[in-house]
Amino acid sequence: MPADRSAARLAAPAGFGRRLRAWYRRNARDLPWRRTRDAYQVLVSELMLQQTQVGRVIPKYGEFLTRFPTLQAVAAATPAQVCEAWSGLGYYARARNLHALARRVVRLPADPAALRRLPGIGPYTAGAVASFAYERPAALVDTNVARVLTRVFAPRLDPRSAAGRRAAWAIAERILPHTGRAAYVHNQALMELGALICTARVAHCGRCPVRPVCRSAGAPRRPRTGRAGR
Ligand code: ADE
Repeated sequence: MPADRSAARLAAPAGFGRRLRAWYRRNARDLPWRRTRDAYQVLVSELMLQQTQVGRVIPKYGEFLTRFPTLQAVAAATPAQVCEAWSGLGYYARARNLHALARRVVRLPADPAALRRLPGIGPYTAGAVASFAYERPAALVDTNVARVLTRVFAPRLDPRSAAGRRAAWAIAERILPHTGRAAYVHNQALMELGALICTARVAHCGRCPVRPVCRSAGAPRRPRTGRAGR
């Protein structure tokens, strides 16, 4: 079934976005990459967070930006120098891609489709840079967001399956607010809910702001063995 038809069946319960964003405004962690709208800095944070937990990223993020404050600084370095500054985070393809990207563009575009043409930028990272740096209404889905959205809207789907992932993207696009500022908060809030409340190991339904509109709230769930929430 095409993703948009399944999404139509899974229309967002009224109040989901409003509840989510109000909760985020009161509960968001003060994370360094949430204090910037600089697209390069947002990109660095998102690349680091792809495979690494928040607690390990925070110090490396600051160190990396001190060593490479701009995309131009990355472009002027060698790939080995960028990988050296990345050390401790692993998955060095991310650092090599960042270097290749810096040699390709002097400024990151705001359009998600243009972002996706750059090395190392997939649909999630494109949505993150477009919405977090440029406040564009661009959807994003990573492992955590896929889990949250399927639990809330489509509890029968496994977010790790291709169908679950497709449905999560369709839902994310459907529920995205259309103003940039709201989209920024909405996307950060989805990630925060996945990290703090609706985690991979346990859903803390008693503390969940969207419990009244969640289709699996309090229901016994099949155990899921995916990565822990970040
Ligand atoms: N993981 C990936 N992106 C994140 C963000 N912007 N905030 C917190 N955790 C994240």
